[in-house]
Amino acid sequence: MKTKRYFARISEDIKKLGERELNSFGAANIKPVYRGIYFKAEKDILYKIVFKTRFISRILAPVISFSVHSDKYLYKTGKQIEWGDFLSVNETFAINAIVIDSNIKHSKFAALRLKDAIADYFTEKQGKRPSVEKFNPDVYFDLFIDKNRAIISVDVSGGALHKRGYKKEAVEAPMSEILAAAIIEYSEWKGDVPIYDPFCGSGTLLCEAFIKVTDTPAGILRKNFGFKKLPDYDSAIWDKVKKEELKKIKDIPGGLISGSDISGNAVKISKNNCLALDKKRKIIIEQKDLFKIDKIQDSIIVCNPPYGIRMKKGENLDTFYKNLGDFLKQKCKNSSAYIYFGNREYIKKIGLRAKWKKVLSNGGLDGRLVRFDIY
Ligand SMILES: C[S@@+](CC[C@H](N)C(=O)[O-])C[C@H]1O[C@@H](n2cnc3c(N)ncnc32)[C@H](O)[C@@H]1O
Repeated sequence: MKTKRYFARISEDIKKLGERELNSFGAANIKPVYRGIYFKAEKDILYKIVFKTRFISRILAPVISFSVHSDKYLYKTGKQIEWGDFLSVNETFAINAIVIDSNIKHSKFAALRLKDAIADYFTEKQGKRPSVEKFNPDVYFDLFIDKNRAIISVDVSGGALHKRGYKKEAVEAPMSEILAAAIIEYSEWKGDVPIYDPFCGSGTLLCEAFIKVTDTPAGILRKNFGFKKLPDYDSAIWDKVKKEELKKIKDIPGGLISGSDISGNAVKISKNNCLALDKKRKIIIEQKDLFKIDKIQDSIIVCNPPYGIRMKKGENLDTFYKNLGDFLKQKCKNSSAYIYFGNREYIKKIGLRAKWKKVLSNGGLDGRLVRFDIY
């Protein structure tokens, strides 16, 4: 894109992590705004950001910004965009729309009008039109309307970036990959001591710990990179960036990252998910009831215990959390535990003093990450 200016969509809670990450990748003019960060980047930096980011949800290249007070005007302006620069009639596309506080009320309707504009642009010019494909389209566009101001962008990430590609299967109440990456980051774990997740479920925290410590690009398994659809895409630069980043991947000793879960099915799923990244099987996962574990000492503990909202209805977990607190006190000497509470009512049940608490939402849940130090 001529302007070299892009927009990283990111959850408000972790925006600081996104800024730090963009900075470390070499982005310039980093400017945080509500639920996003504007930045400038040359092609190599942009490709690297898309390939490696652990915290950003989507990266957009804004094409046009305009005032929009009706769906008719959205259609009319939408039709004037040179869609042929990004898409051909034989390709498929999808529109991700967000509408906030505007005359056009519904995001689905806004997406539909823009889709009509794209279809009619092609039909009038070429007598044929590209089709819409909700899952795995060739090109993703983004429509954001806030207080009647619209921004249309090409999604240069190629769809939501939390979909890393390692989660072949999930357990009930899984955790978003981006939230897990943030928890690992907040734990300040550098790979110097073992990290353990005793409620590993589908293994999201284990996978994100692996990505961080081995410096594996978070997008290593992704197939669709939206920047390839930009008119100025440079495949030689992408090949170079990819080669350089893959060369940086480090090996780790077996058992540095490990986890367990009481459910045999969760163990099977998490092993399978981890294997997508950890081809050398360095992550160890076992079937264990936490309360039967002998000890977890001199370690970083990260976990997201059951919290009753998406688990069995009406389950009383008060005793469970009290027992978890006792386990930490008695069996986890010289460790720090970073526990994600989907329901913050349970924080006080642990009976340990928290070193700090951070607001971290997960799919609409107002969760907290809490650090406990055990001496
Ligand atoms: C909220 S889920 C964890 C989700 C996980 N972070 C993920 O990414 O999929 C809680 C997990 O705790 C496990 N669990 C419940 N009670 C347990 C216990 N006593 N010991 C070990 N695991 C237990 C459940 O089987 C479930 O997989």
